[in-house]
Amino acid sequence: MLPFTPVCQNQKTEPRPYALVAGGSKGIGYAIAEALARRDFNLILIARHLDTLLAAKSRLESAFPVHVETLVYDLSREESAAQIAQWCIDRNITLKMLCNVAGLGGAEDYLNLSLDSLRYMVRLNIESCMALSLTLLPLLEKNAPSYILNVASMAGFAPIPAKNIYSATKSAVIFFSYSLRYQLKQKKISVSCLSPGPVFTKPGIVKETREKLGWIGMKMAVSPTKVGEIAVRETLNGKLMIVPGTGAKLMSIILRALPRRLVVMIYDMVGKK
Ligand SMILES: NC(=O)c1ccc[n+]([C@@H]2O[C@H](COP(=O)([O-])OP(=O)(O)OC[C@H]3O[C@@H](n4cnc5c(N)ncnc54)[C@H](OP(=O)(O)O)[C@@H]3O)[C@@H](O)[C@H]2O)c1
Repeated sequence: MLPFTPVCQNQKTEPRPYALVAGGSKGIGYAIAEALARRDFNLILIARHLDTLLAAKSRLESAFPVHVETLVYDLSREESAAQIAQWCIDRNITLKMLCNVAGLGGAEDYLNLSLDSLRYMVRLNIESCMALSLTLLPLLEKNAPSYILNVASMAGFAPIPAKNIYSATKSAVIFFSYSLRYQLKQKKISVSCLSPGPVFTKPGIVKETREKLGWIGMKMAVSPTKVGEIAVRETLNGKLMIVPGTGAKLMSIILRALPRRLVVMIYDMVGKK
């Protein structure tokens, strides 16, 4: 962990606010961090690997006049959320935005994974998001108006047999975000939920999208940079559900309108490809 030296935008005016990005060292989380840095936010990035965190810090600090803190934590661990919040409280961080991005999916899911791996997915995808939102609430309230951005997935709009626990956890993130938005309205904390279709953050996702979803999937894909930019812009605009890209937006409307029994049948056929 690096020594903490807050950087001020201008010593005579307000200090630059902080955004915490849980899972901000690469992929969509890094793109969100970049979009926030572009808007003058200092950053706290969290991930498990220090090398990628430091690489992200160095890229961001050389491109933007912001300060980036890096914290190494496994967010699936029960104690992480409380320790991260304590770190922020001890330094009286002017926290304006919490982004819960870290999450795990993949080709293997229920019936193919061990119970330990499934529990890890549940803990990372939903428990860490629920826990960080609660432990950081006092700081977000103190610095209101403020924002919470939870990252779900289009998979959260439908039951997907081949991605059973992934889609279940992501639908939990969506429901959690809808309700939390109402619960925090009075506190002037705006809650948003990003539910993207395919985002090519690694080669495996390109391959899976091409094989399982074909040209429709490829059409729905949006680049990580664009997803990050749209996510931050719409969160700051106070939008609840954010689905980047026209193709993905259209698909998300269809998925939500169709009967679940039909959607699960279609996904079952697609999953067997
Ligand atoms: N890519 C897509 O197509 C897509 C589509 C819809 C939704 N999403 C969702 O978007 C989010 C990000 O996906 P991505 O593709 O950008 O993932 P990614 O490229 O694998 O990046 C994940 C980030 O989270 C961190 N992370 C992973 N496990 C962690 C843990 N246990 N504790 C702390 N940090 C952890 C990673 O750093 P370390 O590895 O160093 O920990 C990294 O910074 C996920 O919630 C995913 O479900 C992705």
